[in-house]
Amino acid sequence: MTLEEQVLDRIKPSPEEKEKLQEVASELLSNVITAAKQLGIKNIIPKLVGSAARNTWISGTHDLDIFIAFPESTSREELKVNGLLIAREVAKDGKNIEERYAEHPYLNMNYRGFDVDLVPCFAVDSASMIKSAVDRTPFHNEFIKMSIPGREDDVLIMKQFMKGTGTYGSELRTQGFSGYLTELLIVHYGSFRNTMRNACNWKPGLTIDMLEHGTVKHEDPLIVIDPTDPKRNVAAALSLNQFAQFIDVCRLYTEEPSEDFFFPKEKAPMKENEIIDMMNSRGSSFVAIVFKAPDLVDDILYPQLDKMEHSVRALLDEYDFKVLNSGYWAKEDAIILLELISSELPNVKKHRGPPVWVSEHAQGFKEKYQDSDELFSLYIEDGFYVADIRRKFSTAKHLFNKRMRTCSLGKHLGEAVTEGFTILEGNEIAKIKESEFRIFLRKWEQKK
Ligand code: CTP
Ligand code: MG
Repeated sequence: MTLEEQVLDRIKPSPEEKEKLQEVASELLSNVITAAKQLGIKNIIPKLVGSAARNTWISGTHDLDIFIAFPESTSREELKVNGLLIAREVAKDGKNIEERYAEHPYLNMNYRGFDVDLVPCFAVDSASMIKSAVDRTPFHNEFIKMSIPGREDDVLIMKQFMKGTGTYGSELRTQGFSGYLTELLIVHYGSFRNTMRNACNWKPGLTIDMLEHGTVKHEDPLIVIDPTDPKRNVAAALSLNQFAQFIDVCRLYTEEPSEDFFFPKEKAPMKENEIIDMMNSRGSSFVAIVFKAPDLVDDILYPQLDKMEHSVRALLDEYDFKVLNSGYWAKEDAIILLELISSELPNVKKHRGPPVWVSEHAQGFKEKYQDSDELFSLYIEDGFYVADIRRKFSTAKHLFNKRMRTCSLGKHLGEAVTEGFTILEGNEIAKIKESEFRIFLRKWEQKK
C-alpha cells in the first residue's frame, strides 16, 4: 500500500458509517417536511448539503448541513421566523440546541451523535442572484456532485493533509482552505498528487477560473473563481501566510513524504525549565499581557485578538520598543505574547529638533528644553539641535500599565481589558501552568 492509500484507509468512512449517516440525514429531511406541515408552512424544500452530501467527509467527523429552502419571494422576516419555527420543531428530538448567527439565525444541535446545522435559505435561480450568503451552498452542492465523482478519495486525502498541516478551515481563526475550495482544487488539478505538484510552484495572484467566466478583479493571494458565481473568489478567506504555508508543506511533502503531515504527533507542553532555557538562550525579552477572555464565538474573538496584537505592536513601536515576534492564545484567559529585543530601554532618549538656521523654530525648541527637568543635554548634530531627554516609559510594563487604553481594540476586548489585565515578564511567564498555553509555547519555539 502506498502512503496515501494507508492514509485513506484511516479516514474513509466504512459502508456502515456511510449508511448510518444516510439514515440520520433522511430522517432529518423528512422531519423537516413533517414540521413544516404541522406548522402550516408551505413550499419549503429540505436539502442535505456540504461534504455529507458529496461523499467528501472524513470518517468520524459527524456533521450534517441541512438547508431549508424557502421560495425566493419569501420576505427576510418570514424566512427568519418560519425558518426558526421549523428548525425548533425538528430540534425537539435533539440535544444541546443552540441558535447561531450567520447572515440570519440558524440552529445547531446534536442529533443521534451528529453535529447538525439547520439553515434556512432562499431558493434562488442562480448563485449570482443570492439574497443571503448561504443561498450559494445548494449550487456548490450541485456543481461538486456533478464534477467530483471518481475523485472523492483525493478530496479526503487532501482535506486530511490540510488538517494535519494546519491549513484546513476557512474560519477567521484559521484563514485556510474551505471544504468547497479543496474540492474545486481537486476538480481543477484532477488529483491529490497533481494539486501538490502544482502548488509547489504557486505564486500570489494565481487565478484559477475553470469556466473562464470571472468578472471581477480580486486582490487576494489565491483566486479561484466560483464556477457557480462569476463574481466570487472562493479563496477570499485564505490569508497570505496560509497560502505560503501550504506551498511550503507541499514542497516538504514532495521531497520527503511522511505520515506525519497527515497525522502530526502531538506536541508536548513545555516544562517550566524548558521555557526559561528557551528565553535565556534567545536572549530576548518576553512580555505577556494577560486578561480574562470574553465568552465569544471564535469568528468574533480571534479577529479581535489579531487586532489587539497589531495595536499593541504599534504602541511598542511608537515608544521605541523593537518587537521580534508576537502571537496570542486564548482559553479562559487570553494572552498576547510579545518577544522584544529588550523590554527595557535607557532613561535617555534622543529627540531631534529643527535645523539651527531656521531661527524661529530653533528659538522655540531651545526655550522648551533648556530649563526642563527632563533634559540631560542639548547639542548640535549634523546641523540640527538635539535634546537628550528623559524617556517617558523605559520599560514595556510601565508603558502597558499607563497606555494600554490608548490602543485601538475591538469592542469586546476593549471592555475585557478595561476590566483589568496583568503584565507578566520572563520567568513569570514560565510559571503559567495551563498546558495548552505551554503547547502554544512549544509551537512558538519550533515555529511549527
Ligand atoms: N460554505 C461556503 N462558504 C463558507 C463555508 C461554507 O460557501 N465559508 C458552504 C459550502 O458550500 C460548504 C457548505 O457551506 O460545502 C458546508 O460548509 P462546511 O460544513 O463548513 O464545509 P464542508 O464542505 O461540509 O466540509 P467539511 O468536510 O469540513 O464539513
Ligand atoms: Mg460540513
